[in-house]
Amino acid sequence: MENIIFKRRSIRSFEDKPVEPEKVERILRAGMQAPSAHNKQPWEFLVVTDKDKRDALSQMSPYAGMVAYAPVAIIVIGHPDSMTEKFMPQDLGACTENILLQIVEEGLGGCWMGFYPDMARCATITNYFNLPEDRIPFCVIALGYSQRENSFVDRYDASKVHFNKW
Ligand SMILES: Cc1cc2nc3c(=O)[nH]c(=O)nc-3n(C[C@H](O)[C@H](O)[C@H](O)COP(=O)(O)O)c2cc1C
Repeated sequence: MENIIFKRRSIRSFEDKPVEPEKVERILRAGMQAPSAHNKQPWEFLVVTDKDKRDALSQMSPYAGMVAYAPVAIIVIGHPDSMTEKFMPQDLGACTENILLQIVEEGLGGCWMGFYPDMARCATITNYFNLPEDRIPFCVIALGYSQRENSFVDRYDASKVHFNKW
């Protein structure tokens, strides 16, 4: 199992080394390449590299401590319209997974940190970064050069697969 899907793991410790802007752009391109309901592409991104802002972000969830040490954090933000609002979590989930896979393709490591649908947690991002009211912070992705190699774990479980009948 050699491709990036099977190599991807959550990486939470990073080298003290910046990420090249062209890598960040390709990572964002991958996110924007995701499928979305009615092709509405209801996503925007806030790329955070400033240390003081990453420190603040790392405090906004009990599980986001690594953001303080990752050179880059990407906040994936939803901007749904009334027609496709209900699909936003799926659209942004697909977008986020594309980003995580491109991070591996770029020789980097990353970790998805959940914010939505914990609206109290989302509000801390909205307030700190002064996001418009109709934008919804969905998740934060920490990324950078990993301090360790990804280790493959085989999660295939035949008992979860059903053919033709339950
Ligand atoms: C919706 C979602 C929210 C997550 N939130 C966090 C988080 O807040 N902090 C964290 O360290 N990892 C978080 N993770 C990463 C999971 O812990 C991780 O994907 C899982 O343990 C499987 O490990 P792997 O990614 O190395 O395969 C999240 C993953 C998902 C999909």
